[in-house]
Amino acid sequence: MNLQALGQFPAYRPRRLRQLPALRRMVSETQLSVAQLVLPLFVRAGNKVRRPINAMPGVFQLSPDELVREATRAHELGVPAVLLFGIPGTKDNRASGAYAANGIVQQAVRRLKKELPQLLVITDVCLCEYMTHGHCGIVQRDKHGARVLNDPTLKLLARAAASHVEAGADIVAPSDMMDGRVRAIRELFDKSGFTDTPILSYAAKFSSAFYGPFREAAESAPQFGDRRSYQMDPANADEALREVALDIQEGADMVMVKPALAYLDILHRVKTEFGYPTAAYSVSAEYSMVKAAAAKGWIDERAVTLESLLAMRRAGADILITYAATDVARWLREK
Ligand code: PBG
Repeated sequence: MNLQALGQFPAYRPRRLRQLPALRRMVSETQLSVAQLVLPLFVRAGNKVRRPINAMPGVFQLSPDELVREATRAHELGVPAVLLFGIPGTKDNRASGAYAANGIVQQAVRRLKKELPQLLVITDVCLCEYMTHGHCGIVQRDKHGARVLNDPTLKLLARAAASHVEAGADIVAPSDMMDGRVRAIRELFDKSGFTDTPILSYAAKFSSAFYGPFREAAESAPQFGDRRSYQMDPANADEALREVALDIQEGADMVMVKPALAYLDILHRVKTEFGYPTAAYSVSAEYSMVKAAAAKGWIDERAVTLESLLAMRRAGADILITYAATDVARWLREK
């Protein structure tokens, strides 16, 4: 836009476009629609289980039957997709629950696809929930301490992703941040006849304090150290573009920026640079902060949530992953 040219139009009065509600809507540059929403859900073994997550009011660990209920409620309001996280009964140092044919996510996917065939099922692909130590990859301990081994982890991640697709998942979303995992998954998919299954890669995933409540929800907090050796430094934006470029090169069909609200600059750069379908993950603490302030009567939950999601859209997000998806779908309907 040529701002100098504005000087040639001294009669321009932006407020003239704001006074008639129908006109205001007509010239609105950004739309928020239920078609963009993804609801993350946590599944654990059992029946009729709804375990509340302390720091995320309204979010639960659900047994598969309750998961179907929750997904149905969202889907009936128009939410097109869910993103599944699993909490396995037991953990080990090989994350075997992540790729077990009858693992908790695999069971949940089968159940969801049977009862809600139109619902898009996206699975989070990571090992941290399934590892005793809570890291996203295989850990080697030696005299220097403990290290997460990148390359040996890739095979397990690809296996986990393929097992999700075998169970019926429509899309997989690797969130581990190991280098090369998109390629490893793509290659195994192509070999296994899953050529048409899209990969939504957590491409620019920052090592963030905003994941705090999630780790309670997914029972995936690292038992030692942190994730800074594989997740991104919040100080870096150029690096985020390199991470995204790499994932696209390796075969990602859609890319994600995470967290969302504190990283709108990254979202904007990723969208303008690559023009790829881009997802914003509004993470657990973004949700918790709004819930906590709203419970105190300090903010308007609905207005703040809708404005935040609109900001993500304005920054360039096509897909909005939010724990508030069901509420948002209802609010959009009421509007
Ligand atoms: C697994 C994973 C995490 C989140 C999504 N997938 C946690 C982490 O990386 O520590 C965070 C989601 C949220 O906070 O809502 N690696």
